[in-house]
Amino acid sequence: MISAVKQPSTTAFVVNDIARTGLFALRRKISLPPLPASTLPSLLCSSSRLSLKPMCVSSARKVVGSRDEELQFRCEAYEADRSEKVSVPAEEPQSSAAQKVKIGIYFATWWALNVVFNIYNKKVLNAFPFPWLTSTLSLACGSLIMLLSWAIRIAESPKTDLDFWKSLFPVAVAHTIGHVAATVSMSKVAVSFTHIIKSGEPAFSVLVSRFLLGETFPVSVYWSLLPIIGGCALAAATELNFNMIGFMGAMISNLAFVFRNIFSKRGMKGKSVSGMNYYACLSIMSLLILTPFAIAVEGPQVWAAGWETAISQIGPQFIWWVAAQSVFYHLYNQVSYMSLDEISPLTFSIGNTMKRISVIVSSIIIFHTPVQPINALGAAIAILGTFLYSQAKQ
Ligand code: 3PG
Repeated sequence: MISAVKQPSTTAFVVNDIARTGLFALRRKISLPPLPASTLPSLLCSSSRLSLKPMCVSSARKVVGSRDEELQFRCEAYEADRSEKVSVPAEEPQSSAAQKVKIGIYFATWWALNVVFNIYNKKVLNAFPFPWLTSTLSLACGSLIMLLSWAIRIAESPKTDLDFWKSLFPVAVAHTIGHVAATVSMSKVAVSFTHIIKSGEPAFSVLVSRFLLGETFPVSVYWSLLPIIGGCALAAATELNFNMIGFMGAMISNLAFVFRNIFSKRGMKGKSVSGMNYYACLSIMSLLILTPFAIAVEGPQVWAAGWETAISQIGPQFIWWVAAQSVFYHLYNQVSYMSLDEISPLTFSIGNTMKRISVIVSSIIIFHTPVQPINALGAAIAILGTFLYSQAKQ
């Protein structure tokens, strides 16, 4: 029963959404759990008396092709108006409560890990302003963790072929650019400002999809971009420590992550690698791409000098900060990728917005970031816009 009701419109989304959403939408499309035969009779009984929401049904049809009927059935069951009395198996409320608890745990873990990453990342960048190296170390740490996990069989290694790695390449290029651009941004401006601008990612997604791919959206989606763009613009215009490189870094990161989602949707068609392993492969390939650029842009000489300065100012605990930002970067991404095996892209995008609120608020408190009321208002409008966008895309 639960497989029929827990993620209704998961398969119904074709998204270029908030970071990673497209990728997960695709992964979900290719790894649909079969509907247990034992659940069919009870569903058939109850669904015959349910009133349906046609939007979900039609979008499911559009996406899933040959599994059309099964998915239509699954959406109908979920989207039903339960105001009428229907016979529901006794175990459903418990299981759905358990599912909610599980998702809650995923979200709490994801946000907590992300907050810790952002704090240590900024502490490191304040003392050691070399974002190309710290970005490389984050990817190296994640790659090492996963290679070791596969070697000692804590995690099952992915079954990949040349086609998989070829299709991963453009995704990894976009991931690398998005990651390094966000880190460069955070080395120049407050963490909160970077995340306010990053909350504008849906606007990039819609604009790229509309003007480069020719996709169209409901009018409400376009309207929802107004508060996103307006809120980000207001926050940027009133940011006390505005810096153009920091602003552009966050904007480039947004654009790169939109392309990452588009490439991942196209490239991963027909593949099935778990969320955790997909992210591991992405880290490894991104590391290979980024390393030569990091050496070219910054290089060992400035790193060595900067490292000595940081150690002399902070002490040996600086090494722990670097380790923490690297490990937590991998962990938060891994949990977010794993959580998408459990939640719909829409839930994911809302969770990602909530994550940004956690990061913005906690970083303002921890780093005593000065915020003017008008600046906070801009951030709030932008965040509200992302919620409206999520609803409009539904
Ligand atoms: C990065 O360094 O990759 C960015 O901070 C990622 O940001 P996001 O996961 O919050 O989009």
